[in-house]
Amino acid sequence: MPKKLLILTGGGDCPGLNAVIRGVAKRARVEKDWVVYGSVEAFNGVLKEPQNIVEITNSVAAGIHVRGGTILKTTNKDNPIKFPVRQEDGTTRFEDRSDELVRRLKELEFDAVINIGGDGSQRISKVLYEKGVNIIGVPKTIDNDLCATDMTFGFQTAVQIATDSFDKLVTTAESHHRVMIMEVMGRDAGWIALHTAIAGGAEICLIPEIPYDINIVTKRIAERYNQGKGFANIVIAEGAHALASSLTSAAGDKGSEHVRLGGVAYELSRQLKAAGCPADIRETVLGHVQRGGSPIAFDRVLATLFGVKAFEMAAKNEFGRMVAFKNNEVTSVTLDEATQEYNGVNKDSYLVKAAKGLNICFGD
Ligand code: F6P
Repeated sequence: MPKKLLILTGGGDCPGLNAVIRGVAKRARVEKDWVVYGSVEAFNGVLKEPQNIVEITNSVAAGIHVRGGTILKTTNKDNPIKFPVRQEDGTTRFEDRSDELVRRLKELEFDAVINIGGDGSQRISKVLYEKGVNIIGVPKTIDNDLCATDMTFGFQTAVQIATDSFDKLVTTAESHHRVMIMEVMGRDAGWIALHTAIAGGAEICLIPEIPYDINIVTKRIAERYNQGKGFANIVIAEGAHALASSLTSAAGDKGSEHVRLGGVAYELSRQLKAAGCPADIRETVLGHVQRGGSPIAFDRVLATLFGVKAFEMAAKNEFGRMVAFKNNEVTSVTLDEATQEYNGVNKDSYLVKAAKGLNICFGD
């Protein structure tokens, strides 16, 4: 009897998800005694009536590593531990369906489960593992905010997309003597903003980890104009906030995907005008283009290696662990380690120091 492996994608989509699915399926095929299935829309494929579980055959997996999104669909709402149930009066009640999920996975006779997802998904993996599910996590997120892995796949693609957009905004800023504000994703972590600022050559970079003083930002813009440059480019992460703000983070719980962000570029624009910045200012909110489309080669490779590793861990019964990329090696960590803390930008890191050394202003 061949063994049965279930794979699923949860949380926000991210370039490289399909490359992981293909990596698992191709590696499993070499071993011959495994059949790979996918649960459609995270764990909903298992919990729904009728169930929605598909076999990942050769033809299903062929060539999908170049495609963005996820062939298995995803959701960042239907957490099986806190499953939303709409009530007749329009309110939502939350149910813990984890025991039901564990029972169904046993009934379906899955020998291993691979859960590809971010922080929230790996917390679900941990609970399921503690309830007896043979589960392995694979880290994903464009935000790069998972601890215990040096990098998540999808992050480099998002940085590339943001940098390409930034380059375009520089030429139009220069032509019109404008201040251009570009807002990128990053709920609590400024990784995309910081990498884009260095790659693109921004004057100002505002991230959630370093609350900014609007007067310092305004001064930096004035200096830039006084130097005769006549334009400035700013990158701001969606979760960034001013020092005076009563919020510690616009996003709520760290790593939470539930509070919808977006639009901080307009808030910054208003603050700059109120602080007396005379420049003509324009705002661009990049939004979901950062998550869409084909993964760049680096992410295809990283995601494929993660898929291969996840399968090999399943074959060796190494459950309760998450695949990780550490010191240039693909390895694994326990789900405990994977979910212990949040990976934000360290303001004392060399990355931030180097950016400051390049005269990039963080508003602090
Ligand atoms: O967590 C990944 C992320 O892309 C965040 O950067 C962003 O705030 C969020 O997802 C957007 O989620 P949604 O797709 O639900 O709008």
